[in-house]
Amino acid sequence: MLPLGPLACLLLTGATAHAAQWKFVDKGNAGIVGLEAIVVSPTLVLMFDRATNDPLHTADGKVAWGSLWNLETNEPTAVKLLSDSFCASGSMLSNGTMVSVGGNIPAAADVNQTGAYDGRMALRLFGPCADPAGANCTIFEDLDHLTLAETRWYTSALRIFDGSLMIVGGIHESTPFYNTDPVNSFEFFPKKDGGVPRPSAFLERSLPVNLFPRVFALPDGKVFMLANNLSMIYDVETDTEQPLPDLPNGQRVSNPFDGTAQLLPLSPPDFIPEILACGGSTMSDQTPVEELSSQDPATTQCSRIALSPEGIAKGWEVDHMPEGRMMPEMIPLPNGQIMIINGAGTGYAAVASIGVTTGNSNADHPVFTPVLYTPSAPLGKRMSKLGMPTTNIARLYHSTVTLTPQGNILLAGSNPNGNLTVVPAGQPGFSSELRVETLDPPFMELPRPVLSNVPSKISFNQKFTIGIDIPAGVSTSSIQVALMDLGFSTHAFHPSARVVFMDAKLSANKKSLTITAPPNNRVYPPGPAYVFVTLGDTTSVGAHVMVGSGANPPVPDQGVRL
Ligand SMILES: *[C@@H]1O[C@H](CO)[C@@H](O)[C@H](O)[C@H]1NC(C)=O
Ligand SMILES: *[C@@H]1O[C@H](CO)[C@@H](O)[C@H](O)[C@H]1NC(C)=O
Ligand SMILES: *[C@@H]1O[C@H](CO)[C@@H](O)[C@H](O)[C@H]1NC(C)=O
Ligand SMILES: *[C@@H]1O[C@H](CO)[C@@H](O)[C@H](O)[C@H]1NC(C)=O
Ligand SMILES: *[C@@H]1O[C@H](CO)[C@@H](O)[C@H](O)[C@H]1NC(C)=O
Repeated sequence: MLPLGPLACLLLTGATAHAAQWKFVDKGNAGIVGLEAIVVSPTLVLMFDRATNDPLHTADGKVAWGSLWNLETNEPTAVKLLSDSFCASGSMLSNGTMVSVGGNIPAAADVNQTGAYDGRMALRLFGPCADPAGANCTIFEDLDHLTLAETRWYTSALRIFDGSLMIVGGIHESTPFYNTDPVNSFEFFPKKDGGVPRPSAFLERSLPVNLFPRVFALPDGKVFMLANNLSMIYDVETDTEQPLPDLPNGQRVSNPFDGTAQLLPLSPPDFIPEILACGGSTMSDQTPVEELSSQDPATTQCSRIALSPEGIAKGWEVDHMPEGRMMPEMIPLPNGQIMIINGAGTGYAAVASIGVTTGNSNADHPVFTPVLYTPSAPLGKRMSKLGMPTTNIARLYHSTVTLTPQGNILLAGSNPNGNLTVVPAGQPGFSSELRVETLDPPFMELPRPVLSNVPSKISFNQKFTIGIDIPAGVSTSSIQVALMDLGFSTHAFHPSARVVFMDAKLSANKKSLTITAPPNNRVYPPGPAYVFVTLGDTTSVGAHVMVGSGANPPVPDQGVRL
Protein backbone atom coordinates (compact mmCIF):
# COMPACT_ATOMS: atom_id res chain seq x y z
CA MET A 1 0.00 0.00 0.00
CA LEU A 2 1.22 3.51 -0.83
CA PRO A 3 1.95 5.82 2.08
CA LEU A 4 -0.78 8.45 2.18
CA GLY A 5 -0.04 12.01 3.31
CA PRO A 6 -2.57 13.99 5.33
CA LEU A 7 -3.76 15.80 2.18
CA ALA A 8 -4.45 12.48 0.39
CA CYS A 9 -6.31 11.19 3.46
CA LEU A 10 -8.41 14.31 3.49
CA LEU A 11 -9.27 13.92 -0.17
CA LEU A 12 -10.01 10.21 0.10
CA THR A 13 -12.30 10.46 3.10
CA GLY A 14 -14.54 12.50 0.81
CA ALA A 15 -17.92 13.74 2.01
CA THR A 16 -17.36 12.94 5.68
CA ALA A 17 -14.15 14.99 5.81
CA HIS A 18 -14.17 18.70 6.49
CA ALA A 19 -12.92 20.08 3.18
CA ALA A 20 -10.38 22.86 3.51
CA GLN A 21 -11.88 26.12 2.33
CA TRP A 22 -11.51 29.89 2.45
CA LYS A 23 -12.98 31.31 5.65
CA PHE A 24 -13.23 34.44 7.77
CA VAL A 25 -11.95 33.93 11.32
CA ASP A 26 -12.69 36.21 14.32
CA LYS A 27 -9.43 37.39 15.94
CA GLY A 28 -10.64 39.67 18.72
CA ASN A 29 -10.35 43.39 19.37
CA ALA A 30 -7.68 45.80 18.14
CA GLY A 31 -8.13 48.37 20.93
CA ILE A 32 -8.03 51.13 18.28
CA VAL A 33 -9.63 51.54 14.86
CA GLY A 34 -7.07 50.01 12.49
CA LEU A 35 -7.21 52.94 10.08
CA GLU A 36 -3.70 52.27 8.74
CA ALA A 37 -1.74 49.01 9.05
CA ILE A 38 1.69 47.70 8.12
CA VAL A 39 3.41 44.39 8.87
CA VAL A 40 6.60 45.41 10.72
CA SER A 41 8.00 41.97 11.60
CA PRO A 42 7.10 38.29 11.20
CA THR A 43 4.81 38.54 14.24
CA LEU A 44 3.70 42.19 14.44
CA VAL A 45 1.41 44.57 12.60
CA LEU A 46 1.61 48.26 13.46
CA MET A 47 -1.79 49.97 13.33
CA PHE A 48 -2.61 53.66 13.48
CA ASP A 49 -5.86 55.52 14.08
CA ARG A 50 -6.57 59.23 14.39
CA ALA A 51 -5.88 60.65 17.86
CA THR A 52 -9.42 60.44 19.26
CA ASN A 53 -11.35 58.40 21.83
CA ASP A 54 -10.17 54.80 21.26
CA PRO A 55 -10.36 52.42 24.26
CA LEU A 56 -6.64 51.47 24.33
CA HIS A 57 -4.36 53.53 26.64
CA THR A 58 -0.59 54.06 26.73
CA ALA A 59 1.47 53.54 29.89
CA ASP A 60 1.16 57.25 30.78
CA GLY A 61 -2.64 56.97 30.98
CA LYS A 62 -3.37 58.80 27.71
CA VAL A 63 -5.69 57.46 25.01
CA ALA A 64 -3.63 55.57 22.39
CA TRP A 65 -3.90 55.95 18.62
CA GLY A 66 -1.11 53.53 17.73
CA SER A 67 -0.97 49.83 18.49
CA LEU A 68 1.14 46.78 17.78
CA TRP A 69 -1.07 43.85 16.87
CA ASN A 70 0.55 40.54 17.82
CA LEU A 71 -0.25 37.88 15.20
CA GLU A 72 0.67 35.07 17.61
CA THR A 73 -1.46 36.13 20.60
CA ASN A 74 -4.09 38.25 18.80
CA GLU A 75 -3.55 41.03 21.35
CA PRO A 76 -2.81 44.74 20.87
CA THR A 77 -0.13 46.69 22.75
CA ALA A 78 -0.46 50.46 22.83
CA VAL A 79 2.33 52.38 21.09
CA LYS A 80 3.09 55.95 22.13
CA LEU A 81 2.99 58.57 19.35
CA LEU A 82 3.46 62.32 19.65
CA SER A 83 1.62 63.53 16.55
CA ASP A 84 -1.74 62.74 14.98
CA SER A 85 -1.27 60.03 12.33
CA PHE A 86 -4.80 60.52 10.93
CA CYS A 87 -4.82 59.69 7.19
CA ALA A 88 -1.07 59.25 6.96
CA SER A 89 0.85 57.01 4.58
CA GLY A 90 4.06 55.06 4.99
CA SER A 91 6.53 52.45 3.89
CA MET A 92 9.70 50.61 4.84
CA LEU A 93 13.17 52.05 4.06
CA SER A 94 16.16 50.12 2.71
CA ASN A 95 17.46 49.72 6.29
CA GLY A 96 14.24 48.10 7.57
CA THR A 97 12.98 51.18 9.42
CA MET A 98 9.26 51.90 8.91
CA VAL A 99 8.34 55.51 8.23
CA SER A 100 4.83 56.90 8.74
CA VAL A 101 4.37 60.13 6.78
CA GLY A 102 2.10 63.15 7.32
CA GLY A 103 -1.18 63.36 9.21
CA ASN A 104 -3.57 65.88 10.60
CA ILE A 105 -4.24 68.51 13.26
CA PRO A 106 -5.94 66.68 16.13
CA ALA A 107 -9.50 67.79 16.93
CA ALA A 108 -9.55 70.19 19.90
CA ALA A 109 -12.03 67.94 21.72
CA ASP A 110 -9.58 65.02 21.43
CA VAL A 111 -6.36 66.74 22.52
CA ASN A 112 -7.32 66.62 26.16
CA GLN A 113 -7.35 62.85 26.32
CA THR A 114 -4.64 62.09 23.76
CA GLY A 115 -2.09 64.90 24.10
CA ALA A 116 -1.55 64.64 20.32
CA TYR A 117 0.32 67.28 18.30
CA ASP A 118 -0.21 68.45 14.72
CA GLY A 119 0.96 65.55 12.52
CA ARG A 120 0.90 67.19 9.08
CA MET A 121 4.70 67.49 8.78
CA ALA A 122 5.49 64.41 10.83
CA LEU A 123 7.88 61.58 9.98
CA ARG A 124 7.45 58.72 12.48
CA LEU A 125 10.20 56.11 12.55
CA PHE A 126 9.78 52.58 13.90
CA GLY A 127 12.19 49.65 14.12
CA PRO A 128 13.56 47.41 12.79
CA CYS A 129 11.90 45.51 15.64
CA ALA A 130 13.59 42.23 16.56
CA ASP A 131 11.57 41.20 19.63
CA PRO A 132 8.66 38.92 18.59
CA ALA A 133 6.31 40.66 21.06
CA GLY A 134 7.64 44.13 20.25
CA ALA A 135 9.31 44.73 23.63
CA ASN A 136 11.23 48.02 23.53
CA CYS A 137 10.13 48.73 19.96
CA THR A 138 9.05 52.37 19.93
CA ILE A 139 8.05 55.13 17.53
CA PHE A 140 10.64 57.90 17.20
CA GLU A 141 9.38 61.42 16.46
CA ASP A 142 11.18 64.75 16.60
CA LEU A 143 8.58 67.33 15.67
CA ASP A 144 11.14 70.17 15.52
CA HIS A 145 13.93 68.58 13.51
CA LEU A 146 12.60 65.51 11.67
CA THR A 147 9.89 66.91 9.39
CA LEU A 148 8.53 67.11 5.88
CA ALA A 149 9.11 70.31 3.88
CA GLU A 150 5.37 70.91 3.56
CA THR A 151 2.27 70.09 5.59
CA ARG A 152 0.74 66.97 4.00
CA TRP A 153 -2.50 65.17 4.82
CA TYR A 154 -3.70 62.36 2.48
CA THR A 155 -0.24 61.97 0.94
CA SER A 156 1.26 58.77 -0.54
CA ALA A 157 4.70 57.40 0.36
CA LEU A 158 6.55 54.90 -1.81
CA ARG A 159 9.96 53.18 -1.44
CA ILE A 160 11.93 53.80 -4.65
CA PHE A 161 15.03 52.23 -6.22
CA ASP A 162 17.53 53.86 -3.85
CA GLY A 163 15.65 52.66 -0.77
CA SER A 164 14.35 56.12 0.20
CA LEU A 165 10.75 57.28 0.20
CA MET A 166 9.10 59.39 -2.47
CA ILE A 167 6.26 61.41 -0.92
CA VAL A 168 3.52 62.40 -3.36
CA GLY A 169 0.81 65.05 -3.16
CA GLY A 170 -1.77 65.54 -0.44
CA ILE A 171 -3.67 68.47 1.01
CA HIS A 172 -2.32 71.12 3.38
CA GLU A 173 -5.21 71.17 5.85
CA SER A 174 -8.72 69.97 6.39
CA THR A 175 -10.69 69.24 3.25
CA PRO A 176 -14.41 69.78 2.69
CA PHE A 177 -14.33 66.70 0.35
CA TYR A 178 -12.41 67.51 -2.84
CA ASN A 179 -8.75 68.55 -2.73
CA THR A 180 -9.21 72.32 -2.45
CA ASP A 181 -5.87 73.14 -0.77
CA PRO A 182 -3.48 70.88 -2.67
CA VAL A 183 0.21 70.13 -2.13
CA ASN A 184 1.03 69.65 -5.82
CA SER A 185 4.60 68.47 -5.28
CA PHE A 186 6.90 65.56 -4.54
CA GLU A 187 9.49 65.36 -1.81
CA PHE A 188 11.74 62.62 -0.46
CA PHE A 189 12.92 61.07 2.79
CA PRO A 190 15.85 61.28 3.28
CA LYS A 191 15.66 64.65 1.53
CA LYS A 192 16.86 65.19 -2.05
CA ASP A 193 17.42 68.57 -3.76
CA GLY A 194 18.31 70.18 -0.41
CA GLY A 195 14.76 69.44 0.77
CA VAL A 196 13.06 71.62 -1.85
CA PRO A 197 9.81 69.94 -3.06
CA ARG A 198 9.47 69.30 -6.81
CA PRO A 199 6.31 70.84 -8.34
CA SER A 200 4.16 68.45 -10.38
CA ALA A 201 2.02 69.45 -13.36
CA PHE A 202 0.40 66.00 -13.17
CA LEU A 203 -0.89 66.61 -9.65
CA GLU A 204 -2.16 70.03 -10.76
CA ARG A 205 -4.05 68.48 -13.71
CA SER A 206 -5.57 65.70 -11.63
CA LEU A 207 -7.38 68.04 -9.22
CA PRO A 208 -9.77 67.90 -7.46
CA VAL A 209 -9.83 64.08 -7.04
CA ASN A 210 -6.13 63.40 -6.46
CA LEU A 211 -5.70 62.55 -2.78
CA PHE A 212 -3.62 59.46 -1.98
CA PRO A 213 -2.26 59.21 -5.54
CA ARG A 214 -1.78 55.54 -6.52
CA VAL A 215 2.00 55.31 -7.07
CA PHE A 216 4.21 52.35 -8.05
CA ALA A 217 7.96 51.79 -8.39
CA LEU A 218 8.60 50.33 -11.86
CA PRO A 219 11.37 47.80 -12.59
CA ASP A 220 13.42 50.46 -14.44
CA GLY A 221 13.35 52.79 -11.42
CA LYS A 222 10.70 55.16 -12.75
CA VAL A 223 7.43 55.74 -10.90
CA PHE A 224 3.97 55.14 -12.35
CA MET A 225 1.16 57.32 -10.99
CA LEU A 226 -2.61 57.28 -11.20
CA ALA A 227 -4.64 60.16 -9.82
CA ASN A 228 -8.26 60.93 -10.65
CA ASN A 229 -8.58 59.46 -14.20
CA LEU A 230 -5.04 60.46 -15.26
CA SER A 231 -1.87 58.40 -15.47
CA MET A 232 1.80 59.08 -16.09
CA ILE A 233 5.35 57.81 -15.62
CA TYR A 234 7.69 59.99 -13.56
CA ASP A 235 11.46 59.80 -13.99
CA VAL A 236 12.92 60.52 -10.55
CA GLU A 237 16.43 60.95 -11.97
CA THR A 238 15.55 63.60 -14.57
CA ASP A 239 12.43 65.07 -12.88
CA THR A 240 10.27 64.58 -15.99
CA GLU A 241 6.65 63.49 -16.37
CA GLN A 242 5.49 61.34 -19.30
CA PRO A 243 1.67 61.51 -19.59
CA LEU A 244 -0.05 58.20 -20.41
CA PRO A 245 -3.65 57.50 -21.54
CA ASP A 246 -6.53 58.44 -19.20
CA LEU A 247 -8.50 55.67 -17.54
CA PRO A 248 -11.36 54.80 -19.93
CA ASN A 249 -15.05 55.66 -19.46
CA GLY A 250 -14.46 58.31 -16.82
CA GLN A 251 -13.26 55.84 -14.15
CA ARG A 252 -11.63 57.78 -11.26
CA VAL A 253 -9.63 55.93 -8.62
CA SER A 254 -8.05 58.30 -6.08
CA ASN A 255 -9.56 59.83 -2.98
CA PRO A 256 -12.35 60.85 -2.46
CA PHE A 257 -13.50 58.68 -5.42
CA ASP A 258 -11.46 55.78 -4.07
CA GLY A 259 -10.89 52.96 -6.47
CA THR A 260 -7.71 51.00 -5.91
CA ALA A 261 -4.73 50.03 -8.03
CA GLN A 262 -1.93 47.49 -7.85
CA LEU A 263 1.24 46.61 -9.73
CA LEU A 264 0.68 43.03 -10.93
CA PRO A 265 3.35 40.44 -10.04
CA LEU A 266 6.64 40.88 -11.92
CA SER A 267 8.16 37.77 -13.49
CA PRO A 268 11.60 36.95 -14.88
CA PRO A 269 13.20 37.30 -17.31
CA ASP A 270 11.60 40.56 -18.51
CA PHE A 271 9.66 41.82 -15.45
CA ILE A 272 7.20 43.71 -17.68
CA PRO A 273 5.10 45.87 -15.35
CA GLU A 274 1.32 45.86 -15.60
CA ILE A 275 -1.07 48.01 -13.57
CA LEU A 276 -4.61 47.04 -12.56
CA ALA A 277 -7.02 49.76 -11.37
CA CYS A 278 -10.41 48.68 -10.01
CA GLY A 279 -13.56 50.35 -8.76
CA GLY A 280 -14.01 53.95 -7.71
CA SER A 281 -16.53 56.13 -9.50
CA THR A 282 -17.40 57.35 -12.98
CA MET A 283 -19.12 60.46 -11.59
CA SER A 284 -17.88 63.77 -13.03
CA ASP A 285 -15.25 65.35 -10.80
CA GLN A 286 -17.00 68.69 -11.34
CA THR A 287 -20.16 67.53 -9.52
CA PRO A 288 -20.97 69.87 -6.61
CA VAL A 289 -20.74 68.00 -3.30
CA GLU A 290 -24.41 68.75 -2.51
CA GLU A 291 -25.39 66.67 -5.55
CA LEU A 292 -23.43 63.56 -4.50
CA SER A 293 -25.25 60.75 -2.68
CA SER A 294 -24.20 57.70 -0.68
CA GLN A 295 -26.60 55.85 -3.02
CA ASP A 296 -24.71 56.70 -6.26
CA PRO A 297 -23.44 53.41 -7.71
CA ALA A 298 -19.70 52.71 -7.58
CA THR A 299 -18.15 51.44 -10.81
CA THR A 300 -17.56 47.76 -11.58
CA GLN A 301 -14.79 48.73 -13.98
CA CYS A 302 -11.22 47.42 -13.76
CA SER A 303 -8.67 48.86 -16.19
CA ARG A 304 -5.35 47.20 -16.95
CA ILE A 305 -2.31 48.42 -18.87
CA ALA A 306 1.09 46.88 -19.65
CA LEU A 307 3.84 49.50 -19.38
CA SER A 308 5.87 48.24 -22.33
CA PRO A 309 5.94 50.35 -25.54
CA GLU A 310 3.39 47.94 -27.11
CA GLY A 311 1.23 47.93 -23.98
CA ILE A 312 1.17 51.73 -23.80
CA ALA A 313 0.27 51.92 -27.51
CA LYS A 314 -2.58 49.47 -26.90
CA GLY A 315 -3.79 51.45 -23.86
CA TRP A 316 -6.09 50.35 -21.03
CA GLU A 317 -8.03 47.10 -21.34
CA VAL A 318 -11.46 47.16 -19.64
CA ASP A 319 -12.82 44.37 -17.44
CA HIS A 320 -15.56 44.26 -14.79
CA MET A 321 -15.91 43.04 -11.21
CA PRO A 322 -19.11 41.13 -10.31
CA GLU A 323 -20.24 44.20 -8.35
CA GLY A 324 -19.30 47.87 -8.14
CA ARG A 325 -16.92 48.88 -5.33
CA MET A 326 -16.03 52.21 -3.77
CA MET A 327 -12.88 51.82 -1.63
CA PRO A 328 -12.02 48.26 -2.72
CA GLU A 329 -8.64 46.90 -1.70
CA MET A 330 -6.32 44.66 -3.71
CA ILE A 331 -4.04 42.20 -1.94
CA PRO A 332 -1.43 40.48 -4.11
CA LEU A 333 -1.09 36.83 -3.05
CA PRO A 334 2.09 34.70 -3.13
CA ASN A 335 0.62 32.55 -5.94
CA GLY A 336 0.24 35.55 -8.27
CA GLN A 337 -3.52 36.02 -7.82
CA ILE A 338 -4.98 39.28 -6.51
CA MET A 339 -7.64 39.34 -3.76
CA ILE A 340 -10.19 42.10 -4.31
CA ILE A 341 -11.90 42.77 -1.00
CA ASN A 342 -13.91 45.27 1.10
CA GLY A 343 -15.52 48.53 0.07
CA ALA A 344 -19.04 49.72 -0.64
CA GLY A 345 -21.42 49.18 -3.51
CA THR A 346 -22.46 52.83 -3.54
CA GLY A 347 -21.29 56.30 -2.59
CA TYR A 348 -17.89 57.86 -1.98
CA ALA A 349 -15.00 57.95 0.47
CA ALA A 350 -14.83 60.35 3.45
CA VAL A 351 -17.21 61.24 6.25
CA ALA A 352 -20.38 63.35 6.38
CA SER A 353 -19.33 65.63 3.52
CA ILE A 354 -21.80 65.12 0.63
CA GLY A 355 -25.45 65.94 -0.11
CA VAL A 356 -26.98 62.63 0.96
CA THR A 357 -25.17 60.46 3.52
CA THR A 358 -26.04 57.25 5.36
CA GLY A 359 -25.59 58.30 8.97
CA ASN A 360 -22.12 59.86 8.84
CA SER A 361 -21.02 57.64 5.96
CA ASN A 362 -20.58 58.96 2.43
CA ALA A 363 -20.84 55.30 1.28
CA ASP A 364 -23.43 52.55 1.69
CA HIS A 365 -24.11 48.91 0.79
CA PRO A 366 -20.90 47.28 2.07
CA VAL A 367 -19.63 44.45 -0.14
CA PHE A 368 -19.10 41.40 2.07
CA THR A 369 -17.72 38.79 -0.35
CA PRO A 370 -14.21 38.99 -1.84
CA VAL A 371 -13.31 38.25 -5.45
CA LEU A 372 -10.18 36.45 -6.68
CA TYR A 373 -8.51 37.93 -9.77
CA THR A 374 -6.25 35.71 -11.85
CA PRO A 375 -4.00 37.94 -14.01
CA SER A 376 -2.98 35.14 -16.40
CA ALA A 377 -6.57 34.06 -17.24
CA PRO A 378 -8.20 35.30 -20.48
CA LEU A 379 -10.19 38.55 -20.37
CA GLY A 380 -13.70 37.88 -19.05
CA LYS A 381 -12.52 34.86 -17.02
CA ARG A 382 -10.25 36.60 -14.50
CA MET A 383 -12.76 37.33 -11.70
CA SER A 384 -14.18 34.60 -9.48
CA LYS A 385 -16.19 34.43 -6.28
CA LEU A 386 -16.12 30.62 -6.35
CA GLY A 387 -15.37 29.32 -2.85
CA MET A 388 -15.14 32.82 -1.40
CA PRO A 389 -16.75 33.20 2.04
CA THR A 390 -18.93 36.09 3.17
CA THR A 391 -18.35 38.17 6.31
CA ASN A 392 -20.93 40.27 8.13
CA ILE A 393 -18.47 42.99 9.21
CA ALA A 394 -18.59 46.10 7.02
CA ARG A 395 -15.11 47.37 6.13
CA LEU A 396 -15.73 50.83 4.76
CA TYR A 397 -13.86 54.13 5.09
CA HIS A 398 -10.85 53.98 7.44
CA SER A 399 -10.39 50.23 7.30
CA THR A 400 -7.29 48.18 6.52
CA VAL A 401 -6.32 44.83 5.10
CA THR A 402 -2.92 43.23 4.66
CA LEU A 403 -1.36 39.90 3.80
CA THR A 404 0.45 38.53 6.86
CA PRO A 405 3.74 36.61 6.94
CA GLN A 406 1.61 33.55 7.87
CA GLY A 407 0.00 33.79 4.41
CA ASN A 408 -3.51 34.78 5.49
CA ILE A 409 -5.16 38.18 5.21
CA LEU A 410 -5.71 40.44 8.24
CA LEU A 411 -8.68 42.84 8.28
CA ALA A 412 -9.16 45.68 10.77
CA GLY A 413 -10.87 49.01 11.23
CA SER A 414 -13.67 50.87 9.44
CA ASN A 415 -14.94 54.13 10.77
CA PRO A 416 -17.03 56.44 8.63
CA ASN A 417 -17.52 58.72 11.67
CA GLY A 418 -15.63 61.67 13.17
CA ASN A 419 -14.53 59.72 16.24
CA LEU A 420 -15.17 56.36 17.92
CA THR A 421 -18.92 56.04 17.52
CA VAL A 422 -21.49 53.35 18.20
CA VAL A 423 -24.47 53.72 15.89
CA PRO A 424 -27.58 52.43 17.72
CA ALA A 425 -29.41 49.52 16.05
CA GLY A 426 -32.04 50.80 13.65
CA GLN A 427 -30.21 54.10 13.06
CA PRO A 428 -28.59 54.78 9.68
CA GLY A 429 -24.83 54.55 9.44
CA PHE A 430 -21.98 52.30 10.49
CA SER A 431 -20.36 51.92 13.92
CA SER A 432 -16.63 52.29 14.44
CA GLU A 433 -15.12 48.84 14.05
CA LEU A 434 -12.58 47.45 16.56
CA ARG A 435 -12.99 43.81 15.54
CA VAL A 436 -10.12 42.05 13.77
CA GLU A 437 -10.63 39.14 11.39
CA THR A 438 -8.47 37.07 9.15
CA LEU A 439 -9.45 35.66 5.80
CA ASP A 440 -7.73 32.28 5.72
CA PRO A 441 -6.89 30.44 2.49
CA PRO A 442 -7.65 26.69 2.45
CA PHE A 443 -3.95 25.82 2.86
CA MET A 444 -3.98 27.29 6.39
CA GLU A 445 -5.60 24.06 7.61
CA LEU A 446 -3.45 21.69 5.52
CA PRO A 447 0.14 20.53 5.90
CA ARG A 448 2.31 23.22 4.26
CA PRO A 449 5.84 23.28 2.89
CA VAL A 450 8.26 24.44 5.58
CA LEU A 451 11.25 26.60 4.65
CA SER A 452 14.56 26.44 6.53
CA ASN A 453 17.98 28.09 6.43
CA VAL A 454 16.63 31.13 4.60
CA PRO A 455 19.44 33.71 4.65
CA SER A 456 18.58 36.85 6.62
CA LYS A 457 20.05 38.98 3.82
CA ILE A 458 19.95 38.34 0.06
CA SER A 459 21.96 40.16 -2.58
CA PHE A 460 20.71 41.20 -6.00
CA ASN A 461 21.39 38.89 -8.93
CA GLN A 462 22.80 36.17 -6.65
CA LYS A 463 21.70 32.58 -6.27
CA PHE A 464 20.93 31.32 -2.77
CA THR A 465 19.79 27.95 -1.48
CA ILE A 466 17.19 27.25 1.17
CA GLY A 467 15.91 24.05 2.76
CA ILE A 468 12.36 22.92 2.10
CA ASP A 469 10.33 20.22 3.80
CA ILE A 470 7.51 19.17 1.48
CA PRO A 471 4.58 17.35 3.12
CA ALA A 472 3.56 14.05 1.56
CA GLY A 473 0.85 14.51 -1.03
CA VAL A 474 1.85 18.08 -1.99
CA SER A 475 2.60 18.18 -5.69
CA THR A 476 5.86 19.72 -6.87
CA SER A 477 4.74 20.03 -10.48
CA SER A 478 4.41 23.80 -10.06
CA ILE A 479 6.77 25.86 -7.90
CA GLN A 480 6.38 29.60 -7.40
CA VAL A 481 8.80 31.58 -5.26
CA ALA A 482 7.54 35.08 -4.45
CA LEU A 483 9.53 37.95 -2.96
CA MET A 484 7.00 40.30 -1.41
CA ASP A 485 6.66 43.71 0.16
CA LEU A 486 3.31 43.56 1.95
CA GLY A 487 2.70 47.31 1.58
CA PHE A 488 1.25 49.93 3.92
CA SER A 489 -2.55 49.75 4.05
CA THR A 490 -4.23 53.16 4.01
CA HIS A 491 -7.35 54.45 2.21
CA ALA A 492 -7.93 51.59 -0.22
CA PHE A 493 -4.29 51.61 -1.30
CA HIS A 494 -1.12 49.73 -0.37
CA PRO A 495 1.92 51.78 -1.35
CA SER A 496 5.08 49.69 -1.93
CA ALA A 497 3.11 46.38 -2.06
CA ARG A 498 4.87 44.18 -4.59
CA VAL A 499 5.39 40.61 -5.77
CA VAL A 500 8.55 39.68 -7.66
CA PHE A 501 8.74 36.07 -8.76
CA MET A 502 12.17 34.44 -8.62
CA ASP A 503 13.43 31.52 -10.70
CA ALA A 504 13.92 28.45 -8.51
CA LYS A 505 15.16 24.90 -8.95
CA LEU A 506 14.23 22.04 -6.65
CA SER A 507 17.09 19.67 -5.80
CA ALA A 508 16.86 16.04 -7.00
CA ASN A 509 16.11 14.87 -3.44
CA LYS A 510 13.42 17.60 -3.12
CA LYS A 511 15.04 18.89 0.08
CA SER A 512 16.35 22.23 -1.13
CA LEU A 513 15.52 25.05 -3.51
CA THR A 514 18.09 27.15 -5.32
CA ILE A 515 16.64 30.59 -5.96
CA THR A 516 17.85 33.50 -8.10
CA ALA A 517 17.38 36.90 -6.42
CA PRO A 518 15.97 39.78 -8.53
CA PRO A 519 18.56 41.25 -10.92
CA ASN A 520 18.76 44.67 -9.31
CA ASN A 521 17.41 47.26 -6.87
CA ARG A 522 14.97 48.66 -9.40
CA VAL A 523 13.09 45.39 -9.86
CA TYR A 524 12.81 45.11 -6.05
CA PRO A 525 13.54 48.40 -4.24
CA PRO A 526 16.07 47.46 -1.53
CA GLY A 527 14.55 46.75 1.87
CA PRO A 528 12.70 44.12 3.86
CA ALA A 529 10.70 41.35 2.16
CA TYR A 530 9.05 38.00 2.76
CA VAL A 531 9.86 34.91 0.68
CA PHE A 532 6.88 32.60 0.14
CA VAL A 533 7.03 29.27 -1.70
CA THR A 534 3.86 27.97 -3.34
CA LEU A 535 3.65 24.33 -4.45
CA GLY A 536 0.42 23.67 -6.32
CA ASP A 537 -2.30 25.18 -4.10
CA THR A 538 -0.23 25.25 -0.92
CA THR A 539 1.87 28.20 0.23
CA SER A 540 4.55 28.21 2.95
CA VAL A 541 4.78 30.73 5.74
CA GLY A 542 6.77 33.76 4.51
CA ALA A 543 10.40 34.00 5.61
CA HIS A 544 11.61 37.49 6.53
CA VAL A 545 14.68 38.65 4.55
CA MET A 546 16.54 41.89 3.94
CA VAL A 547 17.01 42.46 0.19
CA GLY A 548 20.21 44.37 -0.59
CA SER A 549 22.80 45.62 1.87
CA GLY A 550 20.38 46.87 4.53
CA ALA A 551 22.22 50.21 4.51
CA ASN A 552 20.54 53.54 5.20
CA PRO A 553 19.06 55.21 2.11
CA PRO A 554 19.94 56.42 -0.43
CA VAL A 555 21.82 53.29 -1.52
CA PRO A 556 23.74 53.01 -4.82
CA ASP A 557 22.55 50.78 -7.67
CA GLN A 558 23.26 47.08 -7.05
CA GLY A 559 23.13 43.97 -9.27
CA VAL A 560 22.86 44.10 -13.07
CA ARG A 561 20.79 46.44 -15.23
CA LEU A 562 18.11 44.71 -17.33
C1 LIG B 1 -9.99 68.11 29.86
O1 LIG B 1 -10.17 67.07 30.83
C2 LIG B 1 -10.38 67.53 32.14
C3 LIG B 1 -10.39 66.33 33.08
O2 LIG B 1 -11.17 65.29 32.55
C4 LIG B 1 -11.67 68.36 32.18
O3 LIG B 1 -11.87 68.87 33.48
C5 LIG B 1 -11.57 69.50 31.18
O4 LIG B 1 -12.79 70.21 31.13
C6 LIG B 1 -11.24 68.99 29.80
N1 LIG B 1 -11.00 70.08 28.87
C7 LIG B 1 -11.53 70.12 27.65
C8 LIG B 1 -11.15 71.30 26.81
O5 LIG B 1 -12.26 69.25 27.19
C1 LIG C 1 13.85 46.28 27.20
O1 LIG C 1 14.55 47.36 27.81
C2 LIG C 1 14.75 47.17 29.20
C3 LIG C 1 15.37 48.44 29.76
O2 LIG C 1 16.43 48.87 28.96
C4 LIG C 1 15.64 45.94 29.41
O3 LIG C 1 15.82 45.70 30.79
C5 LIG C 1 14.94 44.72 28.78
O4 LIG C 1 15.78 43.59 28.84
C6 LIG C 1 14.59 44.98 27.31
N1 LIG C 1 13.79 43.87 26.80
C7 LIG C 1 14.04 43.28 25.62
C8 LIG C 1 13.14 42.14 25.27
O5 LIG C 1 14.91 43.66 24.86
C1 LIG D 1 -10.83 62.55 -17.49
O1 LIG D 1 -11.42 63.54 -16.67
C2 LIG D 1 -11.43 64.83 -17.27
C3 LIG D 1 -11.89 65.83 -16.21
O2 LIG D 1 -13.16 65.48 -15.72
C4 LIG D 1 -12.30 64.78 -18.52
O3 LIG D 1 -12.28 66.04 -19.17
C5 LIG D 1 -11.77 63.71 -19.47
O4 LIG D 1 -12.63 63.58 -20.56
C6 LIG D 1 -11.67 62.38 -18.76
N1 LIG D 1 -11.06 61.38 -19.65
C7 LIG D 1 -11.71 60.29 -20.10
C8 LIG D 1 -10.98 59.40 -21.02
O5 LIG D 1 -12.85 60.03 -19.75
C1 LIG E 1 -17.54 62.39 19.05
O1 LIG E 1 -18.07 63.24 18.03
C2 LIG E 1 -19.35 63.75 18.35
C3 LIG E 1 -19.87 64.49 17.14
O2 LIG E 1 -18.88 65.37 16.64
C4 LIG E 1 -19.24 64.65 19.59
O3 LIG E 1 -20.50 65.15 19.94
C5 LIG E 1 -18.68 63.82 20.73
O4 LIG E 1 -18.46 64.67 21.84
C6 LIG E 1 -17.39 63.17 20.35
N1 LIG E 1 -16.99 62.26 21.42
C7 LIG E 1 -15.76 62.20 21.89
C8 LIG E 1 -15.56 61.26 23.03
O5 LIG E 1 -14.84 62.85 21.44
C1 LIG F 1 17.29 54.22 8.55
O1 LIG F 1 17.54 55.32 7.73
C2 LIG F 1 16.89 56.51 8.14
C3 LIG F 1 17.19 57.55 7.06
O2 LIG F 1 18.55 57.77 6.96
C4 LIG F 1 17.37 56.92 9.51
O3 LIG F 1 16.69 58.09 9.93
C5 LIG F 1 17.11 55.79 10.48
O4 LIG F 1 17.63 56.12 11.75
C6 LIG F 1 17.77 54.53 9.96
N1 LIG F 1 17.42 53.42 10.82
C7 LIG F 1 18.35 52.76 11.51
C8 LIG F 1 17.86 51.64 12.35
O5 LIG F 1 19.54 53.05 11.48
